Amino acid sequence: MERLPGFRDFYPHPLPHQDVWSAAARNHLFDRWRSVAHAYGFHEYDGPPLEPLELFTTKSGEEIVDQLYCFEDKGKRSVALRPEMTPTLARMVAVHERNYKKPIKWFAIPQLFRYERQQKGRLREHFQLNADIVGEADPAADAELIALLIDTLRSLGLTSEDFVVRLSSRQAWQRYFAEHCQDEARAYEFYQVIDKLEREDPAVSETKLQALGFSLDAVRAFIDAGKPTPELQSVIENLAARGLAEFARIDYNVIRGLAYYTGVVFEAFDQKGEFRAIAGGGRYDGLIKLISGGKTDLPAIGFGMGDVVLLELLQKRNLLPAFDSRLDVFCIIEDEARRADTLRLIQLMRDAGITVDFPMVSMKPDKQFKRALESKARFTVRAERTAEGQMQARFKNLETRVEEATPPEGLAAAVVRVLRANPAV
Ligand code: HAM
Repeated sequence: MERLPGFRDFYPHPLPHQDVWSAAARNHLFDRWRSVAHAYGFHEYDGPPLEPLELFTTKSGEEIVDQLYCFEDKGKRSVALRPEMTPTLARMVAVHERNYKKPIKWFAIPQLFRYERQQKGRLREHFQLNADIVGEADPAADAELIALLIDTLRSLGLTSEDFVVRLSSRQAWQRYFAEHCQDEARAYEFYQVIDKLEREDPAVSETKLQALGFSLDAVRAFIDAGKPTPELQSVIENLAARGLAEFARIDYNVIRGLAYYTGVVFEAFDQKGEFRAIAGGGRYDGLIKLISGGKTDLPAIGFGMGDVVLLELLQKRNLLPAFDSRLDVFCIIEDEARRADTLRLIQLMRDAGITVDFPMVSMKPDKQFKRALESKARFTVRAERTAEGQMQARFKNLETRVEEATPPEGLAAAVVRVLRANPAV
């Protein structure tokens, strides 16, 4: 039976085929995401993958609503698999914000589901690093978050030659819209046209813009002028003070498709323009109020960074490690009478954090040795009995071929000593 289109299987190494996804690469990404978020003082949260449909229908914007995986559950509730994390975060914060000091700095790594047209970099499920700061309206929070985005990508080996964060402002676009069109109800429709400008046929954009009373040339001139708003200026200066200025630039082509953004918005792209957006986010100062029915009113800013484009980009730039998982020890059981002794040694070593494997059923010794080599074990260990019937462990360093014997109690310490002295390459 085949898996659903747009969904992925993640395999351990060695990968059976070049086109399958690597579980180790995914973990590598998650490790970096977590460690940089921790370095910035963010705390991890999580929520349910299934939410009431209503949480997404009015809040996220038409595009995401069209892509919802939704159904009626057995209790006749309308539910949806989460297509994004932000409404869940807004709901969670609204309920318990009093228990947390502001600003709240939270991150999560949810799996998200969107019934999208499948294309390069866009699947029907993906994982996303979500980082958000709630309760701080100053552009210093925008800068802190964008710095986190930049450092997350830098921690994976990407440089300013590989990616750039394009900064823009919904406020700047709001003002531009209001200067040319009085019908505020059509603002989101206008933003949707701007959001697609770079991908859409110019003739189609021109027609849509004209229907709203705009011309493509005038819109392009506004984008090209790229005059930073005071908030954007402040973000740029803040990033410059951190030495991160080269990673960001003003680009009013970015406006973001989601409905709830209110201020600074941004997207990270690869410099060569080969891939879809690596990450996107912005300020959404009205969403928590909307979701809490007016009970909680807190400013917020955040971003989402997907695993799909990022893994493709890292692979293309040769920035993924080899993922050559090695065993520390392979235990060889030549005589089944020694199996119980061996199990005792295995337990002692695993308790000490040593990575150990062994044949679970009887196997020819030469086959066992072959397994040890295949799993790139650093040592083999055998349980044996002395002439006096005392149990001892014989361990052999497979690189130096030096073999030693030790009482069981000394084995773990002896193995750890050699492992520490010669870290794996
Ligand atoms: P988004 O722009 O919809 O924003 O998604 C953020 C990132 O998730 C994209 O830049 C892309 O890397 C990845 N992504 C989105 N859809 C797919 C897909 N179908 N397949 C693979 N990757 C995808 C949001 O979701 C906002 N909630 C982010 C945010 C957090 N805003 C404030 N806080």
